[in-house]
Amino acid sequence: MDLQTIKQYDKQYFMNTYGERTNVMFTHGKGMYLFSSENKKYMDLLAGIAVSALGHAHPTLTNAIIAQTKKYIHCSSLYYIEPQAILAKKLVDNSCADKIFFSNSGAESNEGAIKLARVYHKKKGNLNKYEIITLEKSFHGRTLATIAATGQEKYHKHYDPLTPKFKSIPKNDIKAFKEAINENTCAFMIEPIQGESGVNPLDIDYVKQVRTICDDLDIVLIFDEVQCGMGRTGTLFGYEHFGVKPDIFTLAKALGGGFPVGAVCAKDKFASFEPGDHGSTFGGNPLACAAGIAVMDTLINDNLVQSGNTVGKLIIDSLKTIMENCLLIKEIRGMGLMIGIELTKPIAKEINNKLFDQGFLVGSVGENTLRILPPLIITIEEGLSFVTALENILKEYIA
Ligand SMILES: Cc1ncc(COP(=O)(O)O)c(C=O)c1O
Repeated sequence: MDLQTIKQYDKQYFMNTYGERTNVMFTHGKGMYLFSSENKKYMDLLAGIAVSALGHAHPTLTNAIIAQTKKYIHCSSLYYIEPQAILAKKLVDNSCADKIFFSNSGAESNEGAIKLARVYHKKKGNLNKYEIITLEKSFHGRTLATIAATGQEKYHKHYDPLTPKFKSIPKNDIKAFKEAINENTCAFMIEPIQGESGVNPLDIDYVKQVRTICDDLDIVLIFDEVQCGMGRTGTLFGYEHFGVKPDIFTLAKALGGGFPVGAVCAKDKFASFEPGDHGSTFGGNPLACAAGIAVMDTLINDNLVQSGNTVGKLIIDSLKTIMENCLLIKEIRGMGLMIGIELTKPIAKEINNKLFDQGFLVGSVGENTLRILPPLIITIEEGLSFVTALENILKEYIA
C-alpha cells in the first residue's frame, strides 16, 4: 500500500490522538536504522521513545520471538510458564527486587505499583493510607489513575474529576515533600530521571533524603523506571545512580525491546499481592517474556549498558563543547543515552524536521527541547555523526 493511501485510511479510520504525524512510513529496520517506503535510510535516535534498546531486527531478539511463536504464543497464567519464571528470576538476580509481576505497558505497571502500595498498607491495618504523592512535570501513563499521578495539567484535560487521592509537588524540594505528607500518605512515586518533561534527573541528595523520610514514616517509595530503566541511563536501572533502592520499581518500554511487556518489581516486604488481588490476561505471556529474556541476556552478555554509557557520555561531552560557543543551546541534560538538549529559542520542532530531512530521527519535547534516546547498540561514530549534523544545522541559524 502506498503512503498516500495509508494517510487516507489513517484520516478516515483512526482516532487522531497523535496530531499530524511525520510524513514517513517505515517498512523495515536494521540495527540503528529504519528504512522508509521511499527507500530512505534514517538513523533512529529515538528508538520508539526508549523502547528499541537492541535496535531493529536484532537477531537474538528476533530469533527468540520466532522460536517462542513456534512453540506457543499464549497460555494463561493459571498455568506455569517457563519464560515467565526465567524472566522474573533474571530481573530479581540483577536488581534490588525480590518479586515481579508482569504487565503489558508502562501505565499498567504503574497502576500495579500504586495498587501494590495500597495493598501493603491495607494488609498492615493502615486503612487510611491511600494517598499517593508524585512530582510536578512527571509522566506516569494514560490510564485514569496514572494521569492523576502525572503532574502535568495538559494530560488532565477532559478527565475531570480525576481519580482522587493523588497530589503533585515540585521536584528537588524536600520541604514541599515534608509538607505534603499527612496521615493518609501511602506512597511517593517518582521518576529518578524524568523523561517526558525533557530529561530532568533528580538531585542525588534529594533522592537520598526522600529515601530516609520514606523509611522513617513507612511511606512506600516507588520509582517509575519505565523510561529510564533497562540500561538507558548507563546503569541497568536508574536508581543505581542515586545510592538508594526503591521499595517498588516499574519497567516497560525497553524490557521487551519493542514487544509489549511491563513489570512491577518489589522488595519482599512490599510484595503484598496475594491470589485474587491483581491479575492480567496477557501480562507475563510466554512470547512477551521470551522477548524480555532475549533483551536482558543481550544487554548483559554484550555489555550494552557500559558501551551505551560510553557513547552517551561522548555525545553529552561533545554537545557541551558545542554549547560553549553556541548561543542556541541553553542546557544539556541527561545520563547515559537519555539526553535532553534545551534550546534558547522555541525551534525544537524546526530543528527536529531539519534533522529528519538529513536522515536522523530524534524527539522534541515542548517548543524548546530536543530529546535523544538511541538504541544501546549505537557506536561512537554514529553518535558523533548526529552531533556533527546538529552542530551544522545550528550554525545555519547563527550565520
Ligand atoms: C516514565 C514513564 N512512565 C510511564 C509511561 C507510560 O508507558 P506506556 O505508554 O507504556 O503506558 C511512560 C511513557 O512514556 C513513561 O515515560
